[in-house]
Amino acid sequence: MPVENSRMKGFYQFSVKERLNLIKAAAGLSDEATNALGSFAELDIETANRMVENVIGTMSLPIGIATNFVIDSKHYLIPLCTEEASVVAAASNMAKRCLKNGGFFTECDPPLMIAQIQVLDVEDIPAAEEAIAKAKESLISQCNDVESTMIRRGGGCKSMLTRVIKTQIGSMLIVHLIVDCQDAMGANAVNTMAERISPRIAELSKGRVNLRILSNLAVHRIARASAIFTPEEIDNDGGRENGLAIISNILEAYHFAASDPFRAATHNKGLMNAISSIALACGQDWRAVEAGCHAWASHGREHYSSLTDWWQDDEGNLCGRIEVPLAVGIVGGASKIHPAARANLEIIGVESAQELAGVMAAAGLAQNLAAMRALSTDGIQAGHMRMHMRNMASSEGANSDEIDQIAILLENYSETITPLVIRTTLQQIRE
Ligand code: MEV
Repeated sequence: MPVENSRMKGFYQFSVKERLNLIKAAAGLSDEATNALGSFAELDIETANRMVENVIGTMSLPIGIATNFVIDSKHYLIPLCTEEASVVAAASNMAKRCLKNGGFFTECDPPLMIAQIQVLDVEDIPAAEEAIAKAKESLISQCNDVESTMIRRGGGCKSMLTRVIKTQIGSMLIVHLIVDCQDAMGANAVNTMAERISPRIAELSKGRVNLRILSNLAVHRIARASAIFTPEEIDNDGGRENGLAIISNILEAYHFAASDPFRAATHNKGLMNAISSIALACGQDWRAVEAGCHAWASHGREHYSSLTDWWQDDEGNLCGRIEVPLAVGIVGGASKIHPAARANLEIIGVESAQELAGVMAAAGLAQNLAAMRALSTDGIQAGHMRMHMRNMASSEGANSDEIDQIAILLENYSETITPLVIRTTLQQIRE
């Protein structure tokens, strides 16, 4: 029901329970919906209330474990938090298909983040750049002159550069700080550094500083993963000829994405199904990860394109590679305070932010292959509909035994499965 007034004066001052009741009344929520919001599953009420403002409840999503992943010769169980059916199964299935050649291999950059300082009204930009370059070492020291575990462990600001950009309202001088964030995502650290040195940047440039904020286009923090899939592994029955035919279709699908931004957006969305779900499960800023990956998909290229590359080697194997900027951390933020995120990080068993980035990249590569393979063979609707059918059956009131029976009865059903079909099948079972 539409609310009459969204102005809820002093809302933040109420307790979580009071807020929930106010929202219940304002939005006409049922008891069931109110209880769902207020059940605070694994995230207790106090922690939730500390994380964001105006909290009334929490929302659960399934965590599924992707299996079969061998990455850099280590086995991983990977938690994915997602509402989308088929994602977990698809990633697990593809991870199994590259085991003959050792699974996935990764190569991740050190955890370097960029902070940007925007300088305006600079009369002599070359002179400003020179002054900043001369003061570079002392500016870097000033960035690092704070009490921080990250700096004690060898992280901190490592370098600095200036760029000049032309905009519709004139030229701007942009200062980049390059910061080693160690095992943290690093947003807070780099933003603090940018704010800390900006008065001196203004002085040195004889200009005016406006924004001081990290860049999510983390070009110095690239995670790469690659894998080789034999034709026999690509075919469900281990057949070489059919495997080669599927590989040929997959390569056509890949070249479509590489050349067409309309297709590339969907192709990349598919691989982000894994990357974002792991980010969410592990308490990462998944919007930052999404922004970085999509920006990288057009960075330094003619147009937005595929984040993966696929080709065939001389033996007919399918070779894949992914390259994505992944600003993730295993200390600080929600990865530290959210109990489920902590548990998921424990399951994944990574010892550094770089290792986590490598696992995410490998899962992204597997997910991308799963989508291309499904799309260029049976199409994705068959698998999706099987899962969707179970959800529909549940919505029609079927219990888990009945859901299993419906799934068996409709396994070879060739028409579209509608709620009516489900209802009729359920009735037949019950009769
Ligand atoms: C759906 O979530 C993802 C796909 O659309 C990806 C793709 O088209 O490659 C299947």
